[in-house]
Amino acid sequence: MSFIPDMDDWVRSHYVDVANQTVAAIGSLEGKRILDVGCGEPLIAFGLLSKGASQVVGVDIKDLPESLREATLRRLDAAGFTEARGREGDMTLLSYDGITMPMASNDFDVVFSWGVFEHIADVKRVLQEMKRVMKPDGIGFIKVFPWFPSFHGSHLSDFTPPFAHLNMSSSELHATVVRYLDEHPEAPRAFVLNHMWPEFLTLNKYSADMFYREFQACGFASHTWTPLCYPQELSAAPPDRSFSELMICGLEVVFRK
Ligand SMILES: C[S@@+](CC[C@H](N)C(=O)[O-])C[C@H]1O[C@@H](n2cnc3c(N)ncnc32)[C@H](O)[C@@H]1O
Repeated sequence: MSFIPDMDDWVRSHYVDVANQTVAAIGSLEGKRILDVGCGEPLIAFGLLSKGASQVVGVDIKDLPESLREATLRRLDAAGFTEARGREGDMTLLSYDGITMPMASNDFDVVFSWGVFEHIADVKRVLQEMKRVMKPDGIGFIKVFPWFPSFHGSHLSDFTPPFAHLNMSSSELHATVVRYLDEHPEAPRAFVLNHMWPEFLTLNKYSADMFYREFQACGFASHTWTPLCYPQELSAAPPDRSFSELMICGLEVVFRK
Protein backbone atom coordinates (compact mmCIF):
# COMPACT_ATOMS: atom_id res chain seq x y z
CA MET A 1 0.00 0.00 0.00
CA SER A 2 1.50 3.33 -1.00
CA PHE A 3 1.29 6.27 1.39
CA ILE A 4 1.05 9.16 -1.08
CA PRO A 5 -2.55 9.44 -2.25
CA ASP A 6 -3.37 9.59 -5.92
CA MET A 7 -2.85 13.32 -6.58
CA ASP A 8 -5.55 13.34 -9.28
CA ASP A 9 -7.97 12.12 -6.63
CA TRP A 10 -6.84 14.46 -3.85
CA VAL A 11 -9.70 16.96 -4.15
CA ARG A 12 -12.46 14.35 -4.40
CA SER A 13 -11.08 12.20 -1.59
CA HIS A 14 -10.83 15.19 0.77
CA TYR A 15 -14.10 16.84 -0.25
CA VAL A 16 -16.31 13.74 -0.69
CA ASP A 17 -14.81 10.74 1.11
CA VAL A 18 -13.96 12.44 4.40
CA ALA A 19 -17.45 13.92 4.71
CA ASN A 20 -19.02 10.53 3.92
CA GLN A 21 -16.85 8.78 6.51
CA THR A 22 -17.70 11.45 9.07
CA VAL A 23 -21.44 11.01 8.55
CA ALA A 24 -20.96 7.23 8.78
CA ALA A 25 -19.14 7.68 12.11
CA ILE A 26 -21.30 10.30 13.86
CA GLY A 27 -24.56 10.61 11.91
CA SER A 28 -26.19 13.55 10.17
CA LEU A 29 -24.39 16.91 10.06
CA GLU A 30 -27.59 18.74 9.07
CA GLY A 31 -27.75 22.16 10.74
CA LYS A 32 -24.63 21.50 12.86
CA ARG A 33 -22.00 24.04 13.78
CA ILE A 34 -18.64 22.28 13.35
CA LEU A 35 -15.10 23.01 14.50
CA ASP A 36 -12.41 21.58 12.17
CA VAL A 37 -9.11 21.44 14.11
CA GLY A 38 -6.08 21.53 11.80
CA CYS A 39 -8.21 22.34 8.75
CA GLY A 40 -5.28 23.30 6.48
CA GLU A 41 -6.59 23.91 2.97
CA PRO A 42 -10.36 23.76 3.66
CA LEU A 43 -11.38 21.04 1.18
CA ILE A 44 -12.66 18.93 4.06
CA ALA A 45 -14.43 21.94 5.60
CA PHE A 46 -16.31 22.51 2.32
CA GLY A 47 -17.14 18.78 2.27
CA LEU A 48 -18.66 19.03 5.76
CA LEU A 49 -20.77 22.00 4.59
CA SER A 50 -21.92 19.91 1.62
CA LYS A 51 -23.47 17.49 4.12
CA GLY A 52 -25.78 20.19 5.47
CA ALA A 53 -23.65 21.66 8.27
CA SER A 54 -24.78 25.21 8.99
CA GLN A 55 -21.28 26.49 9.70
CA VAL A 56 -17.70 25.28 9.80
CA VAL A 57 -14.97 27.06 11.72
CA GLY A 58 -11.50 25.86 10.74
CA VAL A 59 -8.51 26.48 13.02
CA ASP A 60 -4.87 25.80 12.32
CA ILE A 61 -1.47 26.86 13.60
CA LYS A 62 -0.62 27.70 10.00
CA ASP A 63 -1.41 31.06 8.53
CA LEU A 64 -4.82 30.80 6.80
CA PRO A 65 -4.87 33.82 4.46
CA GLU A 66 -8.13 35.38 3.28
CA SER A 67 -7.31 34.16 -0.26
CA LEU A 68 -7.30 30.49 0.83
CA ARG A 69 -11.07 29.99 0.58
CA GLU A 70 -11.18 31.29 -3.00
CA ALA A 71 -8.12 29.22 -3.99
CA THR A 72 -9.81 26.10 -2.54
CA LEU A 73 -13.05 26.90 -4.40
CA ARG A 74 -11.07 27.16 -7.63
CA ARG A 75 -9.63 23.66 -7.03
CA LEU A 76 -13.15 22.38 -6.31
CA ASP A 77 -14.50 24.09 -9.47
CA ALA A 78 -11.76 22.45 -11.55
CA ALA A 79 -12.68 19.04 -10.15
CA GLY A 80 -16.38 19.63 -10.97
CA PHE A 81 -17.62 20.38 -7.43
CA THR A 82 -19.06 23.78 -8.31
CA GLU A 83 -21.84 23.50 -5.72
CA ALA A 84 -19.33 24.44 -3.01
CA ARG A 85 -19.55 28.05 -4.24
CA GLY A 86 -22.13 29.95 -2.28
CA ARG A 87 -21.17 28.26 1.00
CA GLU A 88 -18.00 30.28 1.62
CA GLY A 89 -19.93 32.70 3.86
CA ASP A 90 -20.63 29.76 6.20
CA MET A 91 -16.94 29.10 6.77
CA THR A 92 -14.57 30.93 9.10
CA LEU A 93 -10.84 30.19 9.08
CA LEU A 94 -8.71 31.19 12.06
CA SER A 95 -5.05 30.79 12.91
CA TYR A 96 -4.17 30.20 16.55
CA ASP A 97 -1.16 29.41 18.70
CA GLY A 98 -1.84 25.65 19.04
CA ILE A 99 -2.67 26.20 22.71
CA THR A 100 -5.78 28.35 23.26
CA MET A 101 -8.57 28.23 20.69
CA PRO A 102 -9.99 31.69 20.00
CA MET A 103 -13.61 30.72 20.67
CA ALA A 104 -16.16 30.60 23.44
CA SER A 105 -16.84 27.51 25.54
CA ASN A 106 -19.83 25.22 24.76
CA ASP A 107 -20.08 26.59 21.22
CA PHE A 108 -19.96 23.64 18.76
CA ASP A 109 -22.30 20.76 17.99
CA VAL A 110 -19.38 18.83 16.46
CA VAL A 111 -15.65 19.03 17.10
CA PHE A 112 -13.69 17.32 14.37
CA SER A 113 -10.09 16.67 13.38
CA TRP A 114 -8.75 14.65 10.44
CA GLY A 115 -5.12 13.73 9.92
CA VAL A 116 -3.75 16.21 12.43
CA PHE A 117 -3.02 14.63 15.83
CA GLU A 118 0.19 12.98 14.67
CA HIS A 119 1.51 16.54 14.15
CA ILE A 120 0.23 18.26 17.29
CA ALA A 121 2.92 19.27 19.79
CA ASP A 122 0.67 19.55 22.87
CA VAL A 123 -1.88 16.78 22.36
CA LYS A 124 -3.52 16.98 25.78
CA ARG A 125 -3.97 20.72 25.59
CA VAL A 126 -5.68 20.55 22.18
CA LEU A 127 -7.97 17.75 23.41
CA GLN A 128 -8.87 19.86 26.45
CA GLU A 129 -9.66 22.79 24.18
CA MET A 130 -11.85 20.60 21.96
CA LYS A 131 -13.70 19.49 25.10
CA ARG A 132 -14.12 23.07 26.32
CA VAL A 133 -15.65 24.36 23.08
CA MET A 134 -18.03 21.39 22.57
CA LYS A 135 -21.64 21.92 23.57
CA PRO A 136 -22.66 19.70 26.51
CA ASP A 137 -24.64 17.50 24.11
CA GLY A 138 -22.04 17.81 21.33
CA ILE A 139 -20.12 15.02 19.64
CA GLY A 140 -16.46 14.71 18.69
CA PHE A 141 -14.73 12.79 15.90
CA ILE A 142 -10.97 12.43 15.48
CA LYS A 143 -9.22 10.42 12.80
CA VAL A 144 -5.48 9.89 12.89
CA PHE A 145 -3.28 8.09 10.36
CA PRO A 146 -0.43 7.13 10.53
CA TRP A 147 1.03 6.90 14.02
CA PHE A 148 4.80 7.37 13.93
CA PRO A 149 6.03 3.89 14.96
CA SER A 150 3.85 2.17 12.34
CA PHE A 151 4.98 1.22 8.82
CA HIS A 152 3.88 4.51 7.15
CA GLY A 153 4.64 6.58 10.26
CA SER A 154 7.23 8.84 8.63
CA HIS A 155 4.82 9.65 5.74
CA LEU A 156 7.94 8.93 3.62
CA SER A 157 7.62 5.16 3.36
CA ASP A 158 7.16 5.28 -0.43
CA PHE A 159 10.78 6.43 -0.71
CA THR A 160 12.59 4.53 2.04
CA PRO A 161 13.20 0.92 3.12
CA PRO A 162 10.65 -0.55 5.58
CA PHE A 163 10.79 1.09 9.03
CA ALA A 164 13.77 3.26 7.99
CA HIS A 165 12.38 6.08 10.16
CA LEU A 166 12.84 3.88 13.25
CA ASN A 167 16.27 2.59 12.20
CA MET A 168 17.98 5.74 10.87
CA SER A 169 18.84 9.21 12.12
CA SER A 170 16.95 12.10 10.58
CA SER A 171 19.94 13.07 8.40
CA GLU A 172 20.36 9.47 7.16
CA LEU A 173 16.66 9.36 6.36
CA HIS A 174 16.88 12.63 4.43
CA ALA A 175 19.85 11.32 2.41
CA THR A 176 17.91 8.11 1.68
CA VAL A 177 14.90 10.08 0.42
CA VAL A 178 17.10 12.30 -1.79
CA ARG A 179 18.85 9.22 -3.22
CA TYR A 180 15.48 7.68 -4.04
CA LEU A 181 14.36 10.87 -5.78
CA ASP A 182 17.63 11.02 -7.77
CA GLU A 183 17.03 7.46 -8.95
CA HIS A 184 13.30 7.95 -9.68
CA PRO A 185 12.81 11.12 -11.77
CA GLU A 186 9.09 10.25 -12.10
CA ALA A 187 8.59 10.77 -8.33
CA PRO A 188 7.09 14.14 -7.19
CA ARG A 189 10.46 15.56 -6.08
CA ALA A 190 9.41 19.12 -5.26
CA PHE A 191 6.34 17.93 -3.29
CA VAL A 192 8.43 15.47 -1.31
CA LEU A 193 11.27 17.87 -0.47
CA ASN A 194 9.27 21.07 0.02
CA HIS A 195 6.12 19.66 1.63
CA MET A 196 6.55 16.09 2.90
CA TRP A 197 10.00 16.49 4.46
CA PRO A 198 9.04 19.61 6.49
CA GLU A 199 5.84 17.78 7.56
CA PHE A 200 7.98 14.82 8.71
CA LEU A 201 9.93 17.20 10.94
CA THR A 202 6.69 18.30 12.67
CA LEU A 203 5.62 14.76 13.66
CA ASN A 204 5.16 14.28 17.41
CA LYS A 205 6.19 10.59 17.20
CA TYR A 206 3.17 9.45 19.20
CA SER A 207 1.87 5.88 19.18
CA ALA A 208 -1.81 5.01 19.60
CA ASP A 209 -1.11 4.09 23.24
CA MET A 210 0.46 7.49 23.98
CA PHE A 211 -2.53 9.26 22.45
CA TYR A 212 -4.97 7.04 24.33
CA ARG A 213 -3.33 7.86 27.68
CA GLU A 214 -3.59 11.61 27.08
CA PHE A 215 -7.15 11.28 25.81
CA GLN A 216 -8.15 9.32 28.93
CA ALA A 217 -6.67 12.04 31.16
CA CYS A 218 -9.11 14.58 29.64
CA GLY A 219 -12.12 12.84 31.20
CA PHE A 220 -14.51 12.63 28.26
CA ALA A 221 -17.88 11.15 29.25
CA SER A 222 -17.79 8.46 26.54
CA HIS A 223 -15.38 7.42 23.83
CA THR A 224 -15.63 4.68 21.20
CA TRP A 225 -12.46 3.63 19.40
CA THR A 226 -11.68 1.97 16.07
CA PRO A 227 -8.01 1.02 15.58
CA LEU A 228 -6.74 0.96 12.00
CA CYS A 229 -4.56 -2.08 11.22
CA TYR A 230 -3.31 -3.63 7.98
CA PRO A 231 -1.21 -6.72 7.21
CA GLN A 232 2.42 -5.77 7.77
CA GLU A 233 5.77 -7.50 7.19
CA LEU A 234 7.69 -6.76 10.41
CA SER A 235 11.15 -8.33 9.98
CA ALA A 236 12.82 -4.91 9.50
CA ALA A 237 11.11 -3.37 12.54
CA PRO A 238 13.34 -2.67 15.56
CA PRO A 239 12.89 -5.51 18.09
CA ASP A 240 12.38 -3.16 21.02
CA ARG A 241 9.13 -1.75 19.58
CA SER A 242 5.92 -3.32 20.86
CA PHE A 243 3.53 -5.15 18.59
CA SER A 244 0.78 -2.57 19.13
CA GLU A 245 3.13 0.36 18.32
CA LEU A 246 4.09 -1.27 15.03
CA MET A 247 0.65 -2.54 14.06
CA ILE A 248 -1.86 0.13 15.18
CA CYS A 249 -1.36 2.49 12.25
CA GLY A 250 -4.15 4.89 13.07
CA LEU A 251 -7.47 5.28 14.78
CA GLU A 252 -10.88 6.84 14.84
CA VAL A 253 -12.48 7.96 18.06
CA VAL A 254 -16.03 9.23 18.56
CA PHE A 255 -16.57 10.95 21.88
CA ARG A 256 -18.92 12.94 24.08
CA LYS A 257 -18.10 15.72 26.50
C1 LIG B 1 -1.51 16.76 7.38
S1 LIG B 1 -2.24 18.33 7.58
C2 LIG B 1 -3.97 17.90 7.54
C3 LIG B 1 -4.83 19.04 7.07
C4 LIG B 1 -6.31 18.67 6.87
N1 LIG B 1 -6.94 18.25 8.10
C5 LIG B 1 -6.44 17.61 5.81
O1 LIG B 1 -6.60 16.42 6.17
O2 LIG B 1 -6.33 17.94 4.63
C6 LIG B 1 -1.95 18.66 9.30
C7 LIG B 1 -2.41 20.04 9.71
O3 LIG B 1 -2.36 20.15 11.13
C8 LIG B 1 -1.99 21.46 11.44
N2 LIG B 1 -1.59 21.50 12.87
C9 LIG B 1 -0.45 21.11 13.45
N3 LIG B 1 -0.49 21.33 14.78
C10 LIG B 1 -1.71 21.88 15.05
C11 LIG B 1 -2.37 22.32 16.24
N4 LIG B 1 -1.76 22.29 17.44
N5 LIG B 1 -3.62 22.80 16.13
C12 LIG B 1 -4.24 22.86 14.92
N6 LIG B 1 -3.65 22.47 13.76
C13 LIG B 1 -2.41 21.99 13.83
C14 LIG B 1 -0.90 21.75 10.43
O4 LIG B 1 -0.60 23.12 10.34
C15 LIG B 1 -1.52 21.17 9.16
O5 LIG B 1 -2.34 22.10 8.51
